[in-house]
This record gives sequence, structure tokens and C-alpha cells, in this order.
Amino acid sequence: MTLNKKIMKAIQYKEYGRSNVIEYVEVPKPLIQGENDILIKVKAAGINPIDMKIRMGFMKATRPVEMPFIPGGEASGFIVEVGAKVSKFKVGDEVVALTRKHAYAEYVLANEDLVVLKPESLSFEEAASISVTIGTAQSVLFTEGKLEKGQTVLIQGSGGAVGAAMVQMAKASGAYVIATASGNGVALAKSLGADEIIDYKIDDVVDMVNNIDLVADTAGGEAQAKLFQVLKPGGTLLSIVVPPSQELAQQYKVRAGFVASDISAKTLQNGIDLINAGKFRTVVSKTFRLEDAAIAQDFLSAGGVNGKIVLTMEEN
Ligand SMILES: NC(=O)c1ccc[n+]([C@@H]2O[C@H](COP(=O)([O-])OP(=O)(O)OC[C@H]3O[C@@H](n4cnc5c(N)ncnc54)[C@H](OP(=O)(O)O)[C@@H]3O)[C@@H](O)[C@H]2O)c1
Repeated sequence: MTLNKKIMKAIQYKEYGRSNVIEYVEVPKPLIQGENDILIKVKAAGINPIDMKIRMGFMKATRPVEMPFIPGGEASGFIVEVGAKVSKFKVGDEVVALTRKHAYAEYVLANEDLVVLKPESLSFEEAASISVTIGTAQSVLFTEGKLEKGQTVLIQGSGGAVGAAMVQMAKASGAYVIATASGNGVALAKSLGADEIIDYKIDDVVDMVNNIDLVADTAGGEAQAKLFQVLKPGGTLLSIVVPPSQELAQQYKVRAGFVASDISAKTLQNGIDLINAGKFRTVVSKTFRLEDAAIAQDFLSAGGVNGKIVLTMEEN
């Protein structure tokens, strides 16, 4: 294994577009720039829907990127170099990092504040799947949703990567969990501990449940508007996909909003504690080699995926 080489394999694109803009290339290895930087030898990188939204140019206003761009918001691996002021980690530590960009590569830089030690029980593939899912679930359910023990939460899209994390974290908090899913997602939601599961392709959520304290929407689309009807007055609807209608919120006398996840090592800790206690199962649906990133992104975009898609790096 050569750790001091100056080039690395990576995925990049030079223009916005469909997956055919993606190239597998050799580029210079990143160099430590800030005192709190950590250089990670990547073992696995998680794929998130936002990677495709950025590639398609849908996020130009909020997440503009500099071309050529190496995508990838989260990774697992081990530390090969640390900046002068890094105090929590050392070379050789196995870690999980929210990188926000550039993780589809053999090496990536992360800020110390967005790095946590890899739970020993997880493989690198599993570890690469947890930052966005756990961090987002924590932001929605607890930071913004103020979910409490004994309350009822409906999780729209429970077969998906974030939904599966939400089901487990809500259940572990003592909430009553109602999950919507379809296909194999129904069995997944049940295996993760959901108390009730609605197959949204068979049943209409409005006919099935009501009086819910918190709705967490991970699916967006037209189905979101219906979710107002299942809330109790004074309840809360939070979406991570599109801002919910404020007119409907007023009409149903509920609170509604969009949540942009606020992920830090601290917000990840709740999920990490659950993993270490054996109360949280990471759900990796499929892994692909780094060079097959375009196929992997298309696979996730096609839908029907339960859990996370992860890229793995070639041993070198
Ligand atoms: N705001 C933020 O900070 C933030 C953070 C993370 C993710 N996100 C966004 O959140 C969304 C979910 O992310 P993810 O990684 O969990 O994606 P994902 O794994 O693709 O999951 C999406 C899930 O939604 C389900 N779904 C689609 N239409 C539905 C409907 N009408 N009713 C119920 N479920 C439905 C899908 O199920 P089927 O298999 O049945 O289609 C799928 O399981 C993405 O749009 C992502 O960009 C936002």
C-alpha cells in the first residue's frame, strides 16, 4: 500500500448533466490546507440523492460547484495526515467523515469537527452510510421536531436511506412509529421496529391514521400535501425535500417547515451511541466500485432502493 503517492483515482465531472458527464480520472491528491484539516484514505463513500441534484445543476443557486468537480458528501476510511491543530484524532484512526464534497476519491480532506471515530462494529461500507442519514434524522426528529417519548411520528419514505434511520432513532426514543413505504421497504420498516406500516401504493395514508404529533417527510412530491390531514391540531410537519405549504399549515393549524440538516460530530453522536449499544442497524442496499459511480448513481435514481448505496475503493 502506497500512502505517499501524489496522485489518486477519483470521479469527477466538468459540466452539469446526466451521468454520462461522469469520468473516472487520476488527479492530484489533496493536501492539508487548514490547521484543523484531516486527510483521509477513503475506504468507502456514501451516495446521496443530493449528489445527483448537484450534478444535474438543480442546486446551482444554493450549492454551486467549481468544475471539474469531485462529488461525494460522506466517507469512511483511516487518517493519513492531520493539520497542526487537530487534537481529537491521530494518524491511523479509523473514522467516519461528513466531507460535503470530494469523497468519491481515494483521498479526501475533512474538518476535524465533522469527523467521528468509526464504530468498531461497522464495516467501512456501513460506516460510509451513516453521516447523512443519522445526522438528518437527528435534525428532523429531535432538533426541529422535538419528538418526545410517547408521541406518535409518521415517517414518509421509511424504506429509503434517511427514512430507515428515522424509524430506528424515533423508535429508540420511545415514540410510536408509523412508517410509509412500498415494495421491500415495507418489510424493511417492520424489521427496523416500526409499529405500523402503510404500503402507500396500496393504502391511502389519510384513510389509515390521524392525530399524529410529528410527520417527517423524506419523499416530497404531491403526496406531501395529504400529510397535513393526518396531523393533530398543533402538530408538526417537517420535510427534507421541499418546503411544505404555509397556507395548508394555517388551514390545519399546524407548524410546517423545511429542514436543512445541521450535521456535526455532536449531532451524529446520538446515532453513534445507538450503534454502539446495538440498537441501530445500518442498511446498505448495494455497493459499487468507485469506477462504477455513474452506474451506482443511476441505480439510486431509478428508485425502489431500500437503504444506502455505497462506493468502495480499490485496494492499493
Ligand atoms: N434537507 C436535507 O438536509 C436532506 C438531507 C438528506 C436527504 N435529503 C433529501 O431527502 C430525500 C430522501 O433522501 P434518501 O437518501 O432517504 O433517499 P432515498 O433512499 O431515495 O429514499 C426516498 C424514499 O422515498 C420513498 N417514496 C417516494 N415516494 C413516496 C411516497 N409517495 N410515499 C412514501 N414514500 C415515498 C421511496 O420509496 P419507493 O422505493 O417506494 O419509491 C424511497 O424509499 C432526497 O430527496 C434527498 O435529497 C435532504
